[in-house]
Amino acid sequence: MPPFVATAVAHPNIALIKYWGNRDHELRIPENGSISFNLDGLYTKTSVRFDPSIEKDTLCINDQIMDGPDLRRVSQFLRYINGISGKHYFADVKSENNFPISAGIASSAAAFAALSLAATKAAGLDMSEIELSRIARRGSGSACRSIPEGFVEWKPGRDDEDSYAISIAPTNHWDLVDVIAVVKGKHKSIGSTAGHTFARTSPIQKARVADAPRRLALGRDAILQKDFSALAEIVEIDSNLMHAVMMTSNPTLLYWEPATISIMKAVAIWRQSGIPACYTLDAGPNVHVIVLSSYITEIKNRILELPGIENILVAPVGGAAKFID
Ligand code: DP6
Repeated sequence: MPPFVATAVAHPNIALIKYWGNRDHELRIPENGSISFNLDGLYTKTSVRFDPSIEKDTLCINDQIMDGPDLRRVSQFLRYINGISGKHYFADVKSENNFPISAGIASSAAAFAALSLAATKAAGLDMSEIELSRIARRGSGSACRSIPEGFVEWKPGRDDEDSYAISIAPTNHWDLVDVIAVVKGKHKSIGSTAGHTFARTSPIQKARVADAPRRLALGRDAILQKDFSALAEIVEIDSNLMHAVMMTSNPTLLYWEPATISIMKAVAIWRQSGIPACYTLDAGPNVHVIVLSSYITEIKNRILELPGIENILVAPVGGAAKFID
């Protein structure tokens, strides 16, 4: 029997309203919904080859053979795909990112979105966008948001069937850009998967989750109406709330470096002076400065004047995950 091969690409995404904490950790059913946009120009490309003649999975990322937890996470995911297809083959998985791991951008979102597409296609399955989003969610929660195009909302749902992401506005809806300030210092000590399990230990997570529908409505409306100042206000509050939960959970998660705070304070001052910019931070010290595309150069120059900046990446709104030949 011949091997079954497919290749797909997917972008990472930046959440404007954040996912933090699960109702069900195994299925990655989140405690609250989230909204993001895909990051164009940054991508993961993944090929999957199910081969009836091999006896274990292999995983190669950026030309490096992986084992340990990375391989286990991918193997577990491939067994799930085997279960759907009814074909119980092992696979060779080859993946490349065009963005540096040191950029601290959650690579698992693009990785599991691309893997979902490539693996289901290689297994001979024909999936709808919603089905693919549900499948990607099991690999990494935020990966479900890298399946549809443009601006995306993950409807939290209550179980495997109804927890998936949909596009709420197309890629060309609004020319927002994520200017990612990579800061010097110690990067991500505790990853998101562990972090989600600690969220409930924070006394403020309950309040954060209870208030999520309000923040989602404000974020969604601001995107649909292209109202930057409304978006900026809720994006910063939502990021601060997630970091407040992180900082008050047990163990304490404090991802910020001194340079992180310098940028956050500067962005607030720039906005007061009329520049449409706001910040949001994931589980790491880098600052994602969201701006209108006409302000990219201005913002880049301003960020470079601040202390402790290692690198800057610029990503406009990106499209859906897709197959390639
Ligand atoms: C802070 O999706 O990376 O980036 O499901 O365990 O892979 P796993 O977690 P992940 O969590 C993302 C957390 C976040 C916020 C967000 O992207 O919404």
